[in-house]
Amino acid sequence: MPAIQGSTAWISGAAQGIGLAVARELVAKGANVVMADLLDETKGQSLAADLCQLGAGTAVYDRVDVTDTASLHRSLVEKPQEAFGCCATIVVNNAGIVVNDDAGDAKIKSMMDVNMMAVMKGTQMAAEAIRSAGKKGVVINTASMGGLLPLPETQAYAASKWAVVGFSISCRPLKKSHGVRVNCVCPAMTQTPAVGTFFAKKFKEQDANHPLLKDQLLPEEVADAYIALIENDKLNSQAAAIMPQVSYLHNFDFVGVTMQGIQDGVKLPRRARL
Ligand SMILES: NC(=O)c1ccc[n+]([C@@H]2O[C@H](COP(=O)([O-])OP(=O)(O)OC[C@H]3O[C@@H](n4cnc5c(N)ncnc54)[C@H](O)[C@@H]3O)[C@@H](O)[C@H]2O)c1
Repeated sequence: MPAIQGSTAWISGAAQGIGLAVARELVAKGANVVMADLLDETKGQSLAADLCQLGAGTAVYDRVDVTDTASLHRSLVEKPQEAFGCCATIVVNNAGIVVNDDAGDAKIKSMMDVNMMAVMKGTQMAAEAIRSAGKKGVVINTASMGGLLPLPETQAYAASKWAVVGFSISCRPLKKSHGVRVNCVCPAMTQTPAVGTFFAKKFKEQDANHPLLKDQLLPEEVADAYIALIENDKLNSQAAAIMPQVSYLHNFDFVGVTMQGIQDGVKLPRRARL
């Protein structure tokens, strides 16, 4: 089991919600954490100071917009060295936003830049930094259950999260080439200030008694999955589905799924093969 105690971590979207819960768990387990977020510097430093009170590890705040590639590099690659004298060997690309499908091209593109492009760039930067330092590490990307299932309420957001899952489970070779495991977490609706609140409102508008509203996850429950994926060094290119009653590793048994499709799926007309 890789030790969290004494390790260096970097987390985006760490000022609230799921990212803050993951940062808290890591500091409680003795990690030194760079909390990266858009939130202003003074409030961010105060959050980091609160986490330092937990006693085991430490935290510093770094204000960054992850969609700016140079700033992302400075935060993810340079800040951990500057603050803790070590590259981040635990990297959590978690910052995410959600907009309505009719928000317009500019806002949809901004969402794709945060949810998808920054995750891919963050993973690649982390892998290069860890390899250059001659270390081993782990990257956890935040996707969503809306990246494993259809999410008709927000189709563009679903596209961004399917992209995170597809990217993360395709990073399997980085373990051999860079010594870096890449996994992703796919939470169901979680009580958080922005993304969670957006979906709670959306489902409430559909039906005040919508079943999804009854049993929402807490960020702390979701954070447990990040810790499990970090601590188990056998887990690589996995997607962890997190639902109110259970968390599990999603089964990407491609051969099995394809064979089942051939057996059970609706056959489409096709020309005969010669
Ligand atoms: N809450 C849910 O129901 C839910 C479910 C599945 C997945 N997720 C995903 O979990 C992740 C965390 O979301 P949350 O629910 O905790 O939401 P949240 O909005 O409460 O927190 C997101 C954090 O990301 C930060 N952020 C946004 N854009 C940024 C940028 N460009 N650069 C740096 N930081 C930025 C915000 O300032 C905020 O602190 C997101 O990727 C979200 O899509 C959330």
